[in-house]
Amino acid sequence: MELPSHLDAVRQSYDAVAADYARTVEGPAVALDPLSRAVLGAFAELVTSAGAGPAADVGCGPGKVTAYLSGLGVPVFGVDLSPRMVELARAAHPELRFDVGPMSALAAGDGELGGVLAFYSTHHLPPEELPAVYGEFLRALAPGGHLLLVTRVGDEGHQHRRYGYGGDSAPFDSYRLPEDRIAELLERAGFTIEARTLQAPEEGAKRPVAGFLARKPATAATT
Ligand SMILES: C[S@@+](CC[C@H](N)C(=O)[O-])C[C@H]1O[C@@H](n2cnc3c(N)ncnc32)[C@H](O)[C@@H]1O
Repeated sequence: MELPSHLDAVRQSYDAVAADYARTVEGPAVALDPLSRAVLGAFAELVTSAGAGPAADVGCGPGKVTAYLSGLGVPVFGVDLSPRMVELARAAHPELRFDVGPMSALAAGDGELGGVLAFYSTHHLPPEELPAVYGEFLRALAPGGHLLLVTRVGDEGHQHRRYGYGGDSAPFDSYRLPEDRIAELLERAGFTIEARTLQAPEEGAKRPVAGFLARKPATAATT
């Protein structure tokens, strides 16, 4: 798969740390916190009650959250840029589907998905690529389908650094946007925001975490 160089760096870096990352997120210290479980629970209920199609967990990593959603009754598959992450996800959850691919080109037809989850996975995209990626989520969602996007937020900062997770990777980029900017971009892409959460940084972290529960309008807006 031909990828632009910044995405290739993300892929290579997560390939390098995949096993360490998987060990980290499976550990009890980073079990899903109560607020994450609450927003994932709301998303799961909305997706299953609409029955509009499966959900895609984009940037699923080793599949922990994909499996959590599946346990809540959501028909869900994962997709990730990193083949090594997908290998680990398939090994840990052989009953679920995991694909290798970028979230900017989902393997789903127009309106085929009931939900899109982007859980701590959009921060490596340069801000100028967000409109196209949010547009891709909207395209793949059924009318009335839901997006849950959870990400750390901050000033318009950009970091070029290594990710450890106990291992080591080549340096790669990550970006923090203010939560209002993300909300504006989601609305501009065509989403209706139904709820927002803002969670204080947990011990050892610097940045708060914002959650956006958004819906693709059932009918296109007319002017
Ligand atoms: C911090 S991990 C989060 C994994 C998982 N969502 C979780 O919460 O455990 C970020 C994941 O997003 C993936 N990723 C980053 N950019 C991506 C892109 N443009 N398309 C698909 N996956 C991407 C990475 O390979 C990595 O597995």
